[in-house]
Amino acid sequence: MVTGASSGIGAETARVFAEEGADVVLCYGKNQAGAQETAQAVQAAGRKAWFCQFDIRLSGEIRQAVSRLTASVKGIDALVLCAGQNRITPLINIPSHEWENIININLNGPFYLLQAVAPLLRDGGAVITVASVAAHTGAPHHAHYAAAKAGLVNLTKSAARALAPRIRVNCIAPGITVTPMGVETTAAMDPDYTRKNLLLQRYAAPEEIARWIVFTASPAAGFMTGATIDINGGRFLR
Ligand SMILES: NC(=O)c1ccc[n+]([C@@H]2O[C@H](COP(=O)([O-])OP(=O)(O)OC[C@H]3O[C@@H](n4cnc5c(N)ncnc54)[C@H](OP(=O)(O)O)[C@@H]3O)[C@@H](O)[C@H]2O)c1
Repeated sequence: MVTGASSGIGAETARVFAEEGADVVLCYGKNQAGAQETAQAVQAAGRKAWFCQFDIRLSGEIRQAVSRLTASVKGIDALVLCAGQNRITPLINIPSHEWENIININLNGPFYLLQAVAPLLRDGGAVITVASVAAHTGAPHHAHYAAAKAGLVNLTKSAARALAPRIRVNCIAPGITVTPMGVETTAAMDPDYTRKNLLLQRYAAPEEIARWIVFTASPAAGFMTGATIDINGGRFLR
């Protein structure tokens, strides 16, 4: 079950899961066409796709959508909390409604969905949260997003404690990745950012993040829980 499956990293994660032999629940908010495109990729890999539509900010809508899903899906092996949104606004200028909206999408929403889906998770299952390098570095032009992602790193640890030993919970913290969100973020940044800040001198491709998410969900990562994996092209060493 993958949130944010209508675009970017979430869409690619759903496709890679299918390629590795999983049927996938595709969660999306507004972008039905994007979710349908992902479903075609899942089906092209020979796997089943179900849709699950909700606004991740709304706990009631989530509970209803998950309850409808249980008519066709009886158990979940891996839950990927990938839906997210960023806004570029200097810290001093962030209005309270924008602060609340970004915290709702990136932190409160994943918590609501985790609570709703936890009873469906099968023994030996995994939850993967998707944070960001900004959770560690902070961000002067998207402080709400960075704070929410730092919260998600910590929520990962609490959930790992709460759900052990039945379910593993880990976090993937990507650096800038070439998706609609990534392109919007880089448009507001120093054009020389990659040379100055990234050892690998480039941004990530969505597949380079998606493969880590799928690996973390797999039995190959069976002894890892409560961890945050940083995939950021060497951002911390620059
Ligand atoms: N791209 C980067 O540079 C980067 C770097 C670090 C971390 N990340 C994280 O990686 C994750 C995926 O990002 P991406 O780059 O793939 O972004 P993206 O291409 O913009 O996709 C965002 C996804 O989140 C969903 N979403 C947003 N608001 C929602 C809401 N209110 N309710 C339900 N779904 C909602 C969107 O669904 P709909 O459009 O259908 O509403 C979409 O599927 C995010 O958590 C992001 O913070 C991205």
